[in-house]
Amino acid sequence: MPDANVMEKIVSLCKRRAFIYPASEIYGGINGFWDYGPLGVLLKNNIRDDWWRNMVECPPIGPDGHPIDMVGIDTAIIQNPKTWVASGHAATFADPMRKCPACGNSFRADQVWDILAKQSRWFDSLLQEFTPFTGRIDTPRLLHWAQGKGKRLAPNLALVRNPQVTLSWLADRVNSYPDQSPTLPQLVEYLATEQYAATGPQTPCPECGGPLGEARPFKLMFESYAGLVQDEDHKVYLRPETAQGQFLNFKNIIDTTRVKIPFGVAQIGKSFRNEVTPRNFIFRSREFEQMEMEWFCHPDEAAKWYEFWKAERMKWWRGLGVAEANLKFRDHEKDELSHYSKMTVDIEYKYPFTAPDFGELEGIAHRGCFDLTQHQTHSGQKLDYFDQELQLKLKAEGKSEEEVKARSRYVPNVIEPASGLTRAVLVLLCEAYTEDAQRPSGLFLKFKPKFAPIKLGIFPLVNKDGMPEMAEKLYLDLRQKWTCEYDPKQAIGKRYARMDEIGTPFCICIDGQTLTDQTVTIRHRDTMQQDRIVMDRVPAYLSERL
Ligand code: GAP
Repeated sequence: MPDANVMEKIVSLCKRRAFIYPASEIYGGINGFWDYGPLGVLLKNNIRDDWWRNMVECPPIGPDGHPIDMVGIDTAIIQNPKTWVASGHAATFADPMRKCPACGNSFRADQVWDILAKQSRWFDSLLQEFTPFTGRIDTPRLLHWAQGKGKRLAPNLALVRNPQVTLSWLADRVNSYPDQSPTLPQLVEYLATEQYAATGPQTPCPECGGPLGEARPFKLMFESYAGLVQDEDHKVYLRPETAQGQFLNFKNIIDTTRVKIPFGVAQIGKSFRNEVTPRNFIFRSREFEQMEMEWFCHPDEAAKWYEFWKAERMKWWRGLGVAEANLKFRDHEKDELSHYSKMTVDIEYKYPFTAPDFGELEGIAHRGCFDLTQHQTHSGQKLDYFDQELQLKLKAEGKSEEEVKARSRYVPNVIEPASGLTRAVLVLLCEAYTEDAQRPSGLFLKFKPKFAPIKLGIFPLVNKDGMPEMAEKLYLDLRQKWTCEYDPKQAIGKRYARMDEIGTPFCICIDGQTLTDQTVTIRHRDTMQQDRIVMDRVPAYLSERL
């Protein structure tokens, strides 16, 4: 069963054990920004390297049993601003927001009712006046609330500001339609409305109860200026996705490398979104890292590759050690598709803050030919593809010259698996977090050894009698191959406890017996069992297990 406090415990562990700190903490932090500490950066790099290896250096074998073509790229965060006009981000990448003129707070239009239900103090208090809910209004009871708790919690709610007027027209309205009991949201809207005839029903502010303004788009792209002059002509944007870098370089890659359709271009890098409500630790941040691959293919083959990447990406997440039961696919409904997408499926994870539900981890989108066509139109550069192999095939099939010409030149379709690197860090932390009352630390991080930030702790049992010298020598040898930590101080139990908390899979201890027979103990994180082996055999022993 999900433990409601688990997320708090993970956040606190991340701070205490050097994984993740709030950005600019000494100045009180900055909402939506995080710093990765000495262990956090190791964990993040391990995931990053595994994705790169699996996508670029050693990509999956294609459906026909042959290797596929894939190249990597690393493009600028700031591109020509026309990029974002062509991509659609300048016009559509915005959240509709509603502002409360009374208290100045803003809320995402589609989240107002959710915030009212889950976070609003006055709403929670008012609901108790309707419990059990009958659909009728109890005027004296509501008046009592308005003059007491309501005044303190929701000073700008119509019911509180002008209770007599609000309640009298509400009573008229409810009583004149005895057969149509209003729903709870309708009643709450009525209680937030003073002049129904003039304004219609109002949505109350979750903070102060005042009527929220109309929804207005709030742009999610961060803006800056390039050059000395800070005017509209010099405005630039921090990229909100890495993907556009791949589209902008499509022609360069075709012209300068040996890839042929179908092929992929992969990129890992920072993206920035001025998220309205950054939340759930690093899940939704304003600066984050993405791992995105754009797979360019013939339009007739897009459906096949969509299914291929869907299966491959799920396989990769499972390979990180994420339990099958904590991962699932979710197809996007038509009305939630991004402006560029024909079809999207999310890989979702059961986060502690969504459980028993799931939340987004990676999106796999069929972008059709949207991006290349848009950039072709806006840049005036040809971004179609001449498919020589297809031309030869069509000729061999005896097709007419016109047909061969028309069909062998096309704008490729794109399948895009887009995942968050920083979100992957969160998933591995949640997945690894294991409470265990049997051990002094009370918990350990059960990372798959490959992803553990530190692979080996190397300790002399005591910091004397020749043990530190032997331990240090072993440390210098082993660190050539694995990330090791040498720690000669504190009681051995405390050192093991710390290694458990950071998820180190093996700890080697040099003790009194080492001095006489050259053996060391190797402690296993998950079982706490220790093997004693000859020091010379340590590298081979570890190679088998890491
Ligand atoms: N190029 C397509 C694209 O960017 P997206 O679904 O908006 O699609 C892809 O983002 C992935 O990037 C998400 O599945 C998520 O893992 C990560 N991501 C998006 N916004 C994020 C944020 N504000 N903080 C952390 N990760 C985010």
